[in-house]
Formats: sequence, structure tokens, C-alpha cells
Amino acid sequence: MRILVTGGAGFIGSALVRHLVGDIGAEVLNVDKLTYAGNLASLASVESAPNYQFLRADICDRAKIQEAFVSFRPDIVMHLAAESHVDRSISGAADFIQTNIVGTFSLLDTARHYWEGLDARGKSAFRFLHVSTDEVYGSLGDEGLFEETTPYDPSSPYSASKAASDHLAIAWHRTYGLPVVVSNCSNNYGPYHFPEKLIPLMILNALEGKPLPVYGNGANVRDWLYVEDHARALYTIASRGRPGEKYNVGGRNERRNIDVVQRICAILDGVYKDNGPHAQLITNVTDRPGHDARYAIDASKIEGELGWKAEETFETGIEKTVHWYLENEWWWRPLRENVYSGERLGVFKGR
Ligand SMILES: NC(=O)c1ccc[n+]([C@@H]2O[C@H](COP(=O)([O-])OP(=O)(O)OC[C@H]3O[C@@H](n4cnc5c(N)ncnc54)[C@H](O)[C@@H]3O)[C@@H](O)[C@H]2O)c1
Repeated sequence: MRILVTGGAGFIGSALVRHLVGDIGAEVLNVDKLTYAGNLASLASVESAPNYQFLRADICDRAKIQEAFVSFRPDIVMHLAAESHVDRSISGAADFIQTNIVGTFSLLDTARHYWEGLDARGKSAFRFLHVSTDEVYGSLGDEGLFEETTPYDPSSPYSASKAASDHLAIAWHRTYGLPVVVSNCSNNYGPYHFPEKLIPLMILNALEGKPLPVYGNGANVRDWLYVEDHARALYTIASRGRPGEKYNVGGRNERRNIDVVQRICAILDGVYKDNGPHAQLITNVTDRPGHDARYAIDASKIEGELGWKAEETFETGIEKTVHWYLENEWWWRPLRENVYSGERLGVFKGR
């Protein structure tokens, strides 16, 4: 099995590459531009494996990506490369339009030309997994769950760019017959998470005795999935999902943001006494513009059809995650000092 992964140096991509190389034994080519979010240190455990290769490339660079298809000859493409942080998309959307929409178009079209040249067996076995988010569905009220048939209603420049790329992926299936599958997943957390996102930011700020900035009143609800559960789901969908179908991925772990932060503080109070009790560091700050109230996933299609189920509950996953950050300062310290030190992103005047 030869799998071309885009964005494999990112948070979810690196968990996926570690799973594919280490557990599945697939031949993996990781294609990544290495933006601020790409970090080869997250792949230290597999970098010298004989079944792993890395290519530094932008998915928008059509010639270089075409060459990668011709020389690597993938059976499966798993497309994760994206600009992924909502707050950064509010401050500046251009990179999101370029990578998430134009880049996905370019990759789909390159894959289509490559796929058209395969023999009949290769053609029917080939899969292109487009990895997306539940944020494309917009915001839920207090009740209900996102299903695969929920209409798209994105709120942020990030989710709008992902929605556009999902439509392109499905169109390349309906129009050209490319065997595309799409996954829409809820918020991920776990080891190697870039410290601009809620959970790692809170853990690291608490360790350093800095304020824990909670947007608005903290009542926004997210449905949390441990990243290694997501990696297993992605391989399941790519290897067994039906072309043209979408699969929602979620862990049935809805939590209010404030409760997530309180839980992190409680775990740290037990194992890291400095700066405690950590909940006293919680500070409410101006809400994110266009902040969706609630996301929640109905995962019954992937559970029933493909037999995948999340293994971690939020309680077990968050405990592992906090301990991972305590034990892996070598990974996060250079990012905090040289790439992103925790300043507020995505606020603008005029609203
Ligand atoms: N993080 C989440 O909670 C979540 C949830 C659901 C879906 N997703 C989706 O999963 C995918 C991965 O998310 P993540 O959190 O790992 O993102 P991330 O920001 O951690 O990683 C993105 C990776 O893509 C690379 N990249 C960016 N632009 C590129 C380009 N033009 N060419 C090649 N590589 C490029 C970056 O260098 C980085 O390694 C994204 O498509 C995202 O929309 C994320």
C-alpha cells in the first residue's frame, strides 16, 4: 500500500503518518510545505523508517506535485495540507483561499490525470481522501447533531474555505469519476498540537503561570476527539470508505470550553504544584467574531458502516495530553520561544 499524505508535518497529519508507518506498515510519502504549523520534530519516531519519505513541496506547485505522483505512484492520497487556524483566517484570509481552495483544486486535478493513466484494477482501487472539518456545517443550537446530510453553512473564512474545497472534492468525483471520499471531523486534541489552539495554549500558559484566555463566557461547545482516534478513522475511511461518500468523525465528547479549561487546571493541580490552583489564571476575553455556539457530530455512519469507534473518552484523552506536554518540553519549548508565544490572534476593530 503506497500512500501519499499531504500536510503530514502538521498536528493531525503527523499522527496519521506515525500510524501509517508504524502500525499499518504502509509506504508513505509525506508532502508538506512546512509552514509555521509544519514541524518535522513531530515525526522523529518514524523519520528513519525504510517505509517513510518526505518531500518539501507546496500543494499549489503543480509541476512538483505531478512529479511526486509519477515517481511515487500512490494507491491512496490522504489530503490534510491546509491553513487550519480560525483566528489566523480572521486576521488574514489570503493563505486560506490559496492553500485550502486553490491548492485542493490543483491536487485533485493532478490526481485525476494520474488516475486516468492507471489500469482498470489500479483505477478501481485508488482513493483520494479529502480531510475536512465539522465547521463547514456552521453552528448548532442546544439540540441536534451534524449528520452527513446537514446543509453547509460556514461562518469563518477558514470554514468557508474548507466548505469550498469539500465541494470541489465531491465535484471531481461526480464529474470525472475520481474515487473521492470526504471526512468531516470535530475538534481534535492530543500530543504534538501546535500551541495556538485552545488545549495546548491553556496547558502551556498554566505551566508558565500566564493568564488562561477564555473567549466570551466560555459556553461554546465543541465535540472533542483524541487525535490518534482520528488517525485510525482516516485510514479506515481511506481504505474502506465508499467513493463519493462523506463520513462524519467524532468522539461523542461534547464539552463547553470553560469546562475543558477547568479540567486541565484540575489535572495540573494534582501533578504540577507551581502557579496553582491553576483555575485562578482563567480570564474571560473578548469573544471571537462569528464564534459558532456549538458543534456536535453524529458518528453513526462511520461506526455502523466501517466499524470505527473512538477509543478515548475526553477524560482519558485529556489526562494523556496534559501528561504528554509535561514530559515533552523538548518539542514545545522551541515553538513557544521562536514561532508563537501565545499572543491573541484574530481580533479586529470595526465590529
Ligand atoms: N485540528 C482540528 O481539530 C481539525 C478538525 C477537523 C479537520 N481538520 C482538518 O485536518 C487537516 C489537518 O489539520 P491540522 O490541525 O493537522 O493542521 P495543521 O495546521 O497542524 O497542519 C497543516 C499542515 O499542512 C501544511 N501545509 C500548509 N499549507 C500547505 C501547502 N500549501 N502545501 C503543503 N503543505 C501545506 C503545514 O506545513 C502543516 O504541516 C486540515 O485540512 C484541517 O482542516 C482539523
